[in-house]
Amino acid sequence: RASKQLEEYVMDMKPGTAEILPGLETPILGYNGSFPGPTIRARRGRPVHVTQRNQSGRELNVHLHGGVTPPEYDGHPHDSIPDGAERLYKYPNVAHSATLWYHDHAHGETHKTLFAGLAAFYLLDDPDDKHLDLPQGDYDVPLMIMDRSFNKDGSFRYRYDLDRGFRGDTILVNGAVAPRMKVERRLYRLRFLNASNARAYTLKLGNGRDMIQIGSDGGLLPTAVRRKEIPMEPAERVDVIVDFRQFGVGSKVILHNEGGEPSTSAVMRFDVVKATGAEEARIPKLLREEEEIPEVNAERSWPLTFQGLAGGASMWQIGGGGFNEMRIDCRPRLGSTELWTWRNLSQRTHPMHTHGYHFRVVSVNGKQPHPGDRGWKDTVAVYPNETVVVRPYFDYYAGLYVFHCHAAEHGDMSMMGQMEVV
Ligand code: C2O
Ligand code: CU
Ligand code: CU
Repeated sequence: RASKQLEEYVMDMKPGTAEILPGLETPILGYNGSFPGPTIRARRGRPVHVTQRNQSGRELNVHLHGGVTPPEYDGHPHDSIPDGAERLYKYPNVAHSATLWYHDHAHGETHKTLFAGLAAFYLLDDPDDKHLDLPQGDYDVPLMIMDRSFNKDGSFRYRYDLDRGFRGDTILVNGAVAPRMKVERRLYRLRFLNASNARAYTLKLGNGRDMIQIGSDGGLLPTAVRRKEIPMEPAERVDVIVDFRQFGVGSKVILHNEGGEPSTSAVMRFDVVKATGAEEARIPKLLREEEEIPEVNAERSWPLTFQGLAGGASMWQIGGGGFNEMRIDCRPRLGSTELWTWRNLSQRTHPMHTHGYHFRVVSVNGKQPHPGDRGWKDTVAVYPNETVVVRPYFDYYAGLYVFHCHAAEHGDMSMMGQMEVV
């Protein structure tokens, strides 16, 4: 399956079933029919080619979220794979190591296809990170967090809510309800991904013990950051090291969702057992050099609104317009950086996401962002009435990409714009 230069995968996007509730089969739509889909482990500098065969009965496409990908392989919502067809996606893996994920991006349908199960991890490693001695192998654990509701027969129950987006009453981690994981009394790297349609989480470990954040969407932070609570909007990733030596053997450590309803306040549980062998990982203080980036070339302001339309309907909009594939909202210059101001004029939070490029968060309501948000990001929370300034760096590929709110219901209806990098 793999040569030295290239890794090739073939996947079928097709219906399947998963046993999520005991004794019941939940119909899902998944990569290779599994929920969540198979994790791809990629290496910087070594391309990955994925042939995606669409056997789902509907139009789909595949987006590598957080990937630095030429536009023809990015999964623009209108660049779809008809039912019965296949498509080869080529991922060059030129960017920093990071926790990425791939998911469906069919135009106007993502809130359904993501909910049905088309989501999976894509972990990009960099051999140059080796000297950091981060926890590896069994001690490097990706955790995909999402919410669902269920019908009596075990099938997912979806309720459309344009305003708040879908909220389920049950939290799943890697497709399981409130899972328990045996952990040795040592360091672990946990890679959190919020793969929910619209629910935000505030993760808290064992009533407020430290987690050490080492990464965010775009890879490692310059320096590690101690956190007791980690807020996560849809599509955000946070990598932490947890030192389970701060708990005794036999401890049952709950990962909480602070501020969740009673049924959504526990996320999962870690059961601490004795360590096998000596600790080989460490918590490096300095993770990576901060690079110089080009001067700001343009400034843009994007009001985020809930706009009433003629006929009584309402729609989510960016910059005073809904998504229109015939309209290009901006043309940044390749190799430049810009200042983008997200102004939230609505009463809902919008996790704003850019395809193809990463950004730095410059300010949040005029103040410095939290240190955990000072690395490269591709998705940032913009809370009600907040103004967030980001600085995207259009560093790799020219072409057409989208940017949008990652609350799936908002992005589909129709909080999305297009940029053509020239
Ligand atoms: Cu997760 Cu348009 O992306
Ligand atoms: Cu994306
Ligand atoms: Cu939104």
